[in-house]
Amino acid sequence: MNTSLATQVPRAEEAQKGRCAEEKDEPLAIRSAGCDDAPALYRLITANLQEGHLLPRTIEELVAHAPRFVVATRGPAVVACGELTPLGGTVAEIRSLVVDRRERGSGVGRQLVEELVRRARAEGFARLCAFTHRPAYFVRLGFSIVPQLWVPEKVCTDCWTCPLFRHCGQNAVVLRLEPAGRRREAPLRRPAIRLGAAV
Ligand SMILES: CC(C)(COP(=O)(O)OP(=O)(O)OC[C@H]1O[C@@H](n2cnc3c(N)ncnc32)[C@H](O)[C@@H]1OP(=O)(O)O)[C@@H](O)C(=O)NCCC(=O)NCCS
Repeated sequence: MNTSLATQVPRAEEAQKGRCAEEKDEPLAIRSAGCDDAPALYRLITANLQEGHLLPRTIEELVAHAPRFVVATRGPAVVACGELTPLGGTVAEIRSLVVDRRERGSGVGRQLVEELVRRARAEGFARLCAFTHRPAYFVRLGFSIVPQLWVPEKVCTDCWTCPLFRHCGQNAVVLRLEPAGRRREAPLRRPAIRLGAAV
């Protein structure tokens, strides 16, 4: 770990612990993350690895991927995050979605997902997916549960080499996007595979 970042992580933890009562009164803001947010992203993700069944992230990776993250902030504190990862030309994935425990249940996660959907649509992706142990959460936000193999871009990128492939307990959820300007989500359609047809 880069030394300056290594010292920033504990500092960010201290800052988080010390979040004062007034900070709760600060308005919630949603913005793109920058490299300086990497220690806060690291702290949020690492603190929720088990509960969220999240993929561990290194600080170096978070510095490199910070611009793909959307964060929710109250004053200087980063209270939630989520990453928009391109999986190919047409599909993007939501990764590392976390809301600080003290902020849960008040729609922060929903606002983050809505912003990630808006960005995915604006960037021209046709579908947005997530691989999750909490499919009900995403279904509530408009996603549909699909077989993992319906997202071959993810399977080829990450799952194929994973020892837990098909046994990981994760559900694939997908939201079909329409280009910006056409608001209504198109219904998810089954892929055009006919039973008994030669493949
Ligand atoms: C899952 C998580 C992101 C939800 O964040 P949140 O800010 O509490 O969620 P919201 O308040 O925006 O909830 C949005 C809706 O989902 C519902 N919801 C919240 N948690 C849910 C869950 N675990 N399962 C199903 N629905 C859930 C809410 O009731 C709400 O529905 P409503 O708008 O109809 O009332 C948060 O609990 C978290 O960070 N968990 C730990 C990490 C994790 O599990 N990440 C997800 C990995 S895919």
